[in-house]
Amino acid sequence: MTTTKMLGLALGAALFAVPFAASADDAPSAFNACKACHKVEAGKNGVGPSLAGVFGRKAGSAPGFKYSDAMAAAGAWDEAALGKYLADPKGAIPGNKMAFAGLKKPEDVAAVVAYLKTVK
Ligand code: HEC
Repeated sequence: MTTTKMLGLALGAALFAVPFAASADDAPSAFNACKACHKVEAGKNGVGPSLAGVFGRKAGSAPGFKYSDAMAAAGAWDEAALGKYLADPKGAIPGNKMAFAGLKKPEDVAAVVAYLKTVK
């Protein structure tokens, strides 16, 4: 495949991901940044905890994952809490051990939060 064609495909995928993220089962492109550490299948913890069913559950409660004290003490994950955390993990929950700087674009945060609502 040519580079131009690949670029075209990548752009197409990115444009598709934004408006359809809320209803699609597929992860938005912004979620690629999370995949190194997180799985969305229940019970599959990696560097980070499984994100299956994370929306609405108490922070720090995925079975079998060893959380920091800061995460274990945090509240439930609603839209506002997830949005704040994904934009600025260290600022939102000081002392948590997720080594991720945060999603810079508000539309990426919105797309990932919408996606996390769909992973059960
Ligand atoms: C370098 C690895 C890494 C990356 C990249 C990463 N995370 Fe995490 N994440 C973690 C770790 C480790 C924790 C547990 C933090 C703690 O216990 O303090 C965590 C915790 C979380 C939690 C809280 C889970 C719970 O059970 O309460 C959410 C939500 C989350 N991450 C979402 C994301 C999203 C969405 C992305 C991508 C935008 C992402 N993370 C990127 C490692 C990572």
